[in-house]
Amino acid sequence: MKDSESAAATSSGAGRLAIHGGEKVRREPFPPRGSLGQDEEAAVLAVLERGLAAGEMPGYNGAEEEAFCREFAAALGGGYADAVSSGTAALYVALKALDLEPFGEVVVSAITDPGGMMPIPLLNLIPVVADVEPDSYNSGPDQVAELFSPLTRAVVIAHIGGEPADIAGIVALAHRHGVPVIEDCAQAHGAQLAGRAVGAFGDIAVFSTMFGKHMSTGGQGGVVFTRNEGLYRAVRRVSDRGKPFFLPDGATNVTAALNLNLNDLAAAIGRVQLRKLPEVVARRREIVGQLGEGILDLPTVSLPAPIPNARPSYWFLRLRFHAEAATCDRDAYCRALLAEGLPITPHYRAALPHTQEWFTARRVFGSSGYPWASPDYRGDRERRFPCPNAQAAVATHFNLHLHENWGPAEIDAALTILRKVDAAYRAR
Ligand SMILES: Cc1ncc(COP(=O)(O)O)c(C=O)c1O
Repeated sequence: MKDSESAAATSSGAGRLAIHGGEKVRREPFPPRGSLGQDEEAAVLAVLERGLAAGEMPGYNGAEEEAFCREFAAALGGGYADAVSSGTAALYVALKALDLEPFGEVVVSAITDPGGMMPIPLLNLIPVVADVEPDSYNSGPDQVAELFSPLTRAVVIAHIGGEPADIAGIVALAHRHGVPVIEDCAQAHGAQLAGRAVGAFGDIAVFSTMFGKHMSTGGQGGVVFTRNEGLYRAVRRVSDRGKPFFLPDGATNVTAALNLNLNDLAAAIGRVQLRKLPEVVARRREIVGQLGEGILDLPTVSLPAPIPNARPSYWFLRLRFHAEAATCDRDAYCRALLAEGLPITPHYRAALPHTQEWFTARRVFGSSGYPWASPDYRGDRERRFPCPNAQAAVATHFNLHLHENWGPAEIDAALTILRKVDAAYRAR
């Protein structure tokens, strides 16, 4: 620690920082989400009891899963949904349902989960990585437009942390080029833009329902959603070994594909969770409103505004660290917050997916270097994606892991911690 940091930290009126031996603001851990309740238990037991009565193991694509898919689509304003085994599987299915010819390019957001990118090369398509908008975690129309070429076959846009990207602008741009858009809503259940749910803007959308998401099917799970019936039919086929669903009797499996189905037990959990989603999202918004107000006067940290007309659903809350107003760097600041007991992640992830080894070493199909190395790929095989805005966003933000089960005590503790660390490290 620099001397100035040490002096500021100890002379603060807010008390000595825990990281320097002072008293920790929040001694007990923040509460668990409590997202699993007796309703989910009862729903699973009901499926098991029906199985027992029938002498059959619960299956998949049964009444429970069909109801979950119907209800999921209705919550997005109508359309069709197919439940699958993970968000990664959902993206794989969505891309495969679009039936893109190999070695075309797919524009994809830089800040995402590896599972939001890996299905692209696994389908012999080339990921072309879009930077994010300045001071955002999400790509916007300008960043996507820069990457369009005659080779572009699809765009995959993530709404990170439940903050809507400018998806209306991106869809307008892509459709001018005749290119379909996949919305990656893995972190954005219940988020809205201009009064519409995200997921309902693009041609097709993918969700993760793993256990940590706003709503879950338990363990791992995912959903593919589309308003296009033809595309939905393709989704159903490619999520289940190419089975000839919706085709005349006698048709055989239409394409080679994996078995990425969900199942009725998981869907039973998903149905209950879906009913709770509006309340989960409303409470998260309320908490963020109070946190935002409580830190308005702090110079070292701020709550970034969402894009106009957006109503985020806050899978986590990104907070902006202002180095120019502080006597320490972002990492020292985050260490102090963690020491006080605040549940944060100092940065989105240590390495963005396209800077990870699998991508930089082209490790997808053995040592072939495919799909990039294919003679059928007409683009720049060595292309790198510096993504300066994404690197800056990761370097200047940290993520607060709030959830709907926070009460006044947790909001108060979070604000006390943020104020204490700000007081210790603000430049005077
Ligand atoms: C933006 C994004 N896309 C895709 C995925 C992959 O989802 P899953 O973990 O369910 O495979 C995630 C996972 O959190 C994600 O955050």
